[in-house]
Amino acid sequence: MNARWSSRLVPFLALLISSVPSSTAQTADQAWLNYSLRGRLHSLFPIAVRALGGSAVERTAVAELNRELGSLAGQDASKMTARAREALSGQTLLGTVEEIQKALPDISVPKNLGPEDYWIWSNFQHGEKQLLVIAGGSLKGVLYGAFELLRTPAIAPYTALPKEGLRGSPAMPLRWTDEWDNIDGSIERGYGGRSIFFDAGHVRTDLAPVTEYARLLASIGINGCNLNNVNNASVFFTPEMLKEIARIADAMRPYGVGVSLSADIASPKTLGGLSTFDPLDPAVQKWWAEKVNEIYALIPDFGGFTVKADSEGQPGPASYGRSPADAANTLAAALAPHNGVVLYRAFVYNHHLDWRDPKADRARAAYDIFHPLDGKFASNVIVQIKEGPIDFQAREPVSPLFGGLTQTQQAMELQITQEYLGQQRHLVYIAPMWKEVLDFDMRVNGIHSPVKTVISGGLWLGDQKSLSGNPPPRPLGGMVGVACIGQNGWLGSPLALANLYAFGRLAWNPDLKPEDIATEWTRQTISTDPPVVSTIVKMLMQSWPAYESYTGPLGLQTLTDITGSHYGPNIESSEHNGWGQWHKADHEGVGFDRTVATGSGYVGQYQPEVANIYESTATTPDNLLLFFHHVPYTWKLHDGKTVIQYLYDSHYQGAAQAAQFAKGWASLKGKLDPALYTDVLRRLEYQAGHAIVWRDAVTQYFLKLSGIPDTQGRAGHYPNRLEAEDARLTGYKIIDVNPWEDASGGKAVFCGRPQSCTAEWTYKGADGSFNIAVQYFDLQGGVAKFALTINGKPRAADATWSADAKLPTPRPHGDNSTRHIIKNVMLKPGDTIRVEGTPDASDSAALDYIEMLPSTL
Ligand code: GCU
Repeated sequence: MNARWSSRLVPFLALLISSVPSSTAQTADQAWLNYSLRGRLHSLFPIAVRALGGSAVERTAVAELNRELGSLAGQDASKMTARAREALSGQTLLGTVEEIQKALPDISVPKNLGPEDYWIWSNFQHGEKQLLVIAGGSLKGVLYGAFELLRTPAIAPYTALPKEGLRGSPAMPLRWTDEWDNIDGSIERGYGGRSIFFDAGHVRTDLAPVTEYARLLASIGINGCNLNNVNNASVFFTPEMLKEIARIADAMRPYGVGVSLSADIASPKTLGGLSTFDPLDPAVQKWWAEKVNEIYALIPDFGGFTVKADSEGQPGPASYGRSPADAANTLAAALAPHNGVVLYRAFVYNHHLDWRDPKADRARAAYDIFHPLDGKFASNVIVQIKEGPIDFQAREPVSPLFGGLTQTQQAMELQITQEYLGQQRHLVYIAPMWKEVLDFDMRVNGIHSPVKTVISGGLWLGDQKSLSGNPPPRPLGGMVGVACIGQNGWLGSPLALANLYAFGRLAWNPDLKPEDIATEWTRQTISTDPPVVSTIVKMLMQSWPAYESYTGPLGLQTLTDITGSHYGPNIESSEHNGWGQWHKADHEGVGFDRTVATGSGYVGQYQPEVANIYESTATTPDNLLLFFHHVPYTWKLHDGKTVIQYLYDSHYQGAAQAAQFAKGWASLKGKLDPALYTDVLRRLEYQAGHAIVWRDAVTQYFLKLSGIPDTQGRAGHYPNRLEAEDARLTGYKIIDVNPWEDASGGKAVFCGRPQSCTAEWTYKGADGSFNIAVQYFDLQGGVAKFALTINGKPRAADATWSADAKLPTPRPHGDNSTRHIIKNVMLKPGDTIRVEGTPDASDSAALDYIEMLPSTL
């Protein structure tokens, strides 16, 4: 072993190890900055890491590289190759372009690095000490370069840096997460525990998780974080609270993440005591200017405001007959002297629409309101547009507004938190959906105009030159991901973190492939073992199509409980109300006619080439058919299958696919961290059961409504089921479940007394070994207990279980219908199968059915 190398490396690594945090606090290392795993990724750069400048951001970059080196300490240095040892000797120098040029005048650093760009270069040659340089266009570029160096082996293991160096540059300037945190510490649509920022009306005392979150964000190039809920924002604007928020900004600043706040347009009145919040009133404008000055005095690098106005009950300029541009420009004028921006959300719509009016269409709202305002927004306003025209559904077409604002800066808003996509209890890797949106060609003025170019500012009406690399004329666009992270493992589910990772990677480079992102995420987070990586990546890639198949395919959107939890099935909840998420299913047919010729006219909001595709059923892709057209159930899809049969098949296929996820994961036993293995397996098994709830709800519903049977005889026929309402019941009472499709046969039983209740069936099928599925309702407010016995004999441990999950809706419903499987039960005709349910507080141990499944499953 090289003596010079070992004498320097060993004590240095020992020091690093002692500085790596060892507590169980929530850290970024629990996500993809998993340095214990990274040691196996073979990042080899000289261990003498030094920043040329003294800024906090550069120090952060050095610290991050040192963490990686700390992980190498676990390796036996004597087993390293000579080349690896050489790579670790020499020095790693970090600095801005100016700092590098001054210190190392002989090195030709690229001249035209943008402020967030980096350049990583090494002179590494066999037999020489390595000099590795990370140059940034600004401090942030240095940090992004350091993280890129750490990520590189996960992308391309064992690949050396290119001779000319590795350059990186973000595709779009604005890359933010939105958090919908409330001042009491709860989080709107958050499924990862309580806020890391706020609690009980204050900023939390311990902001260590905030710094860790900033690490995670910086590592994927995210440069902004909007901290508070878009609803009820004014409480964050008191002088006391703003002072507290400055502490959050301090915690995130070393990672180059700027903070911003959602602003409530009514604040001048509700908070400032003015008699009006009319954005054109001089007193209101003065109030905003003073408020903004107050914020910048506390947070000099404050990012700006996100605004939800005239939407879902939030106040807005419409109260005074003013437009979104009037409101946005008032805020923009206050922010402009400080270089702050306004992200004005295009999510403005009337939720009291008349569902009887065929022309009424919520999908139209954003374009109808914002298209006429094109060109009227101040230069520091960005219109923030949800990727689809409705609201983060499992599938929607791309919002036509991306093609309808040619002189206004735009950002695309998407949801990382899985509000309509299984709320982190279902595995849904969303990057493939985002990628479809980013690549979608809006055909603005007939030219190639994918959404990613529009939001990067690279498209300006009639200006073809801007597409060929000249500075964008709309310099402020980007991507905003509604993350809603919390204290429970950031997103509450380990595999859901792939979505946060993918969001940052796509915002940096929308040309990346979702599969490649999934691979690099898995290699950094879970394992570098090729079979493990390929199994997980395959699952991730199949997960969104599977979810779509069992929750609402063909453009139906998610057939979920629209007026409630947004989680389980409730197919009619979207109908006959003003919210406008209608699918218009009746006895004859299904789907929303949005054509220009006969429908709501929404299709006409697209540029002509795109509108032509959607106007006709012949050219509309099947996966959006029912979003754009109302057709009979017997309508033939492009492959000749009828709509109704597709609905049956797709739900059965999707649920079968979900079952495969659990199996695929189980095949990795012994190859994964045991705690992670068990945790994810439990989640995937739950998902497999809940996918069946979805499958049965949607197929039963459409069977009843259409009256057309499933040609394969599955929908509505469950020969291996024994319904609870048909059992011999002791204590249990029969109830109708609402909506009916959420329970097998529409009925369930509940135990309304303190002592336990029982349901008993006499088995009449064939002799054999079975897995018995017990479908029960895991209700809030208590932990009911269940036990299954055969002929009164208790069975192995899997036959007693607790209903201890936290699921939405307090009464029996598809939200909380849950499946427990007892494996390898021997049954013969005449056996008595009994389920005993012991209620606890408001959890009434409600039961739906039991089902005999082959024990080979
Ligand atoms: C959805 C979501 C709300 C949220 C809103 C928004 O409607 O359910 O919780 O406030 O989107 O984006 O503003």
